[in-house]
Amino acid sequence: MRALTGAGAALLLAFQIAPMLAARDDPRAATVAQGLAAIGDPELARGDYVEHCAGCHGVQGLSAPAKLPELRGRVGYMMCTAETRAYLLRLPNIAKSRISDNQQLADMLNFMVFGLGGDSVIPGTRPFTASEVAHERPLALTSASLVAERRRHVDTAIRKCGAPEAFRDFYKTR
Ligand code: HEC
Repeated sequence: MRALTGAGAALLLAFQIAPMLAARDDPRAATVAQGLAAIGDPELARGDYVEHCAGCHGVQGLSAPAKLPELRGRVGYMMCTAETRAYLLRLPNIAKSRISDNQQLADMLNFMVFGLGGDSVIPGTRPFTASEVAHERPLALTSASLVAERRRHVDTAIRKCGAPEAFRDFYKTR
């Protein structure tokens, strides 16, 4: 048997989020299970996240105290409305990713949202699709507008989807 590296073990945990939620009768359990089931190639999706995103956001989606948003247990709130979903797909690091295949990018993002973000997923959230990714990618944001953009979408997530006030910060202050 292949020994799991630290990163491998952490990512395995991200995929165990669905049974963990189910075990505590969490209303998000079915949505998270469905989101993860939409991923065509889970190995590739988590490998892509590690290769393209984890350098900044952390293998487990934990980046504090770096000044960038923590994804673990939080990024699901950004699936609140069509507009906040579009924001995720228009982030420069996502829209302009070297992953050119839209289904592959959708799979990686579904790993991020439903795996790493599991605890914050809003029940009923639909997984990203290749066509949704293809539609938003050409509308990539410029880094100049990011701070104001995030503020606007965080407001929506708090107002409409039950995100905590602390979501305004990039990460939980411990
Ligand atoms: C070079 C570092 C870096 C890399 C690489 C990177 N990001 Fe980011 N990411 C950031 C920063 C900085 C922000 C904050 C932008 C802002 O709102 O000012 C951000 C914002 C985000 C957000 C918004 C979260 C929120 O709460 O607003 C998501 C989601 C995200 N990144 C996902 C990804 C994914 C997926 C990848 C890999 C394709 C990736 N990032 C690669 C630095 C990075």
